[in-house]
Amino acid sequence: DRRTAQEALKRLTVDVPDWPEKGVTFKDITPVLADHHAFSAVVTALAAAGRDDHGNVVVDKVVGMEARGFILAAPVALALGVGFVPVRKAGKLPRESHAVSYTLEYGAATLEVHRDGIAPGERVLMIDDVLATGGTADATRQLIEACGGVATGASVLMELSFLDPRSVTGDLPVSTLLTI
Ligand code: PRP
Repeated sequence: DRRTAQEALKRLTVDVPDWPEKGVTFKDITPVLADHHAFSAVVTALAAAGRDDHGNVVVDKVVGMEARGFILAAPVALALGVGFVPVRKAGKLPRESHAVSYTLEYGAATLEVHRDGIAPGERVLMIDDVLATGGTADATRQLIEACGGVATGASVLMELSFLDPRSVTGDLPVSTLLTI
């Protein structure tokens, strides 16, 4: 359940100071992924954002953001019984794509999605490991909307509240397992 997932996250996530640059503390979730019970618990907890109060699946697609988002979003899509769509960094997708540029905690980037990855009217859940500045989630929402889809919300392992991501994500519903 959710409590188990939260405890596993707290126990297994490793804080790496001054990485990838001085002043930034990196949240290393690889020990969470390496533990079957923890990985399974966090996937189930993340997927809850794609269900209503009766447990019915209420989304048509799950989007994951490169790269750590892929690792979590793909099993969430399988758990919900819906398709997975990758949102990738610039220049990786081979066919016609939408692109959105944004700023993140350390640097700037462009994210892209295939134009036919999401059909008009589809309801889409975003999955990622960390919500930091909120730039990635907001850019992904714009990509979903560019396809004509509806971003139902973002479900993440951790929210770095001291970076105030909600000021960037605005009215997008965000569910998070841990708030730091
Ligand atoms: C990290 C993280 C999120 C994003 C959050 O990815 O996995 O996708 O940053 O930051 P934001 O809220 O400030 O946008 P990163 O760009 O480091 O890529 P990676 O997953 O490929 O390491």
